[in-house]
Amino acid sequence: MTLSYDPVDLDFLEDPYPTYAHLRDEDPVHHYAGTDDVPSFWALSRFTDIWDAVRSQKDFSSAQGLTFYPDEIDQLNLPPNLVMLDPPVHTQRRALIGRGFTSRRVTELEDIIRNFARRRLTELGERAADGEDVDLHQEFSSTIPTYVLAELFGLAEEDRHRFGPWVQALTSIQNDGLRIGQLDGKGAVAEMLGYFSEQIKARRSEPADDLIGALVAAEIEGERLTDWDILGFCFVVVAGGSDTTASLISHGIALLTDRPDQRALLLDDPALISNALIEFLRLESSVQGLCRTTIQDVTIRGTTIPAGEKVMMLYGSANRDPREFGDAADQLDVRRDIPRHLAFSSGPHFCIGSHLARLQARVSFEELLALHPDISVDVAGAERHRSPFVRGFVSLPAHGFAPA
Ligand code: HEM
Repeated sequence: MTLSYDPVDLDFLEDPYPTYAHLRDEDPVHHYAGTDDVPSFWALSRFTDIWDAVRSQKDFSSAQGLTFYPDEIDQLNLPPNLVMLDPPVHTQRRALIGRGFTSRRVTELEDIIRNFARRRLTELGERAADGEDVDLHQEFSSTIPTYVLAELFGLAEEDRHRFGPWVQALTSIQNDGLRIGQLDGKGAVAEMLGYFSEQIKARRSEPADDLIGALVAAEIEGERLTDWDILGFCFVVVAGGSDTTASLISHGIALLTDRPDQRALLLDDPALISNALIEFLRLESSVQGLCRTTIQDVTIRGTTIPAGEKVMMLYGSANRDPREFGDAADQLDVRRDIPRHLAFSSGPHFCIGSHLARLQARVSFEELLALHPDISVDVAGAERHRSPFVRGFVSLPAHGFAPA
């Protein structure tokens, strides 16, 4: 196996961890020279380097996009959204969004998520009992965030059947590395943005107690969000909040499949699930890496990265750095004390949906382990995304469902 870092090499994407370890030890400020398909960029792999970089607003910008492709923003054909804004505009928009996307709004979803998860798991158990194949990722993990986001946005009952395909199309943008030009679902994306524009307009004339209504109403010292701000936010939430959450659920079961001792701990004490989720995310970070662009020359560990260069923050590597997490950093330990990690990034762009992601995953695991304590997945028979930016499954066969 070669340990040289090629962000689009299929063997690397299947199991990036040995290469990350090599980068951390031998070349923590790596310069990738580029190919005909992939431009040159830099890559940071150690925890403290990435922690400091994403928290530094004077050295690193998000405004040139989050991938190493220079044409990403043009490809998106959208106004700059939250995740691609720099302070001070970012600070002001994020505060306004926080007025609408409150913890109370998220907490209130718990029963709705639980009922949905229980219904789905009962159905899947019945299907497995009838001898049918069940795909955990497609038929359970992915359905949770899709259902929850439709609920959060207040989508009308008759429109809900349209939402799943839109989520899939936007998710594939993430999974294909934001190369919209090559995306099959371009029409679906345009359709979804058109639909949300109408919803925003409707909420402006008639207030509603859903997330879009709350964002329309949000105000700080006379400042409000524009339609474009809200549309950009909806786009990031659907593209960045769906498959990331689904992958967390699927990876958790994949990790427990290999470690019956760790599963036994969770079955014994479900209160450990909240901590276990962070451990799952640490070991298998749904977001493996995203770029920033240097605002000025930046020197890290004696290497100077010139101004204007893309720098990949390898969150998936940072989260397994033994310098931060100890010698057993590669091992699953659901009781591990994790004071800080980078699965949701850190600093100004820290994931604004982390509480919603954790709520969905906690409820999913509580229900999964209660209803189907022996469930396991076949990772060798799974299909994975092939993206240097996100890690997750396309399909993940499951077995071990409890009889109905
Ligand atoms: C396990 C699930 C999730 C993971 C691993 C995750 C990860 C991340 C990461 C790493 C970032 C920082 C991006 C950067 O470095 O530039 C981020 C930002 C963001 N996430 Fe999440 N996310 C998850 C779920 C969600 C959910 C459920 C939502 C919304 C409902 C959401 C909405 C956002 C938004 C809007 C931002 C941009 C924040 C800003 O720029 O200020 N995410 N997320």
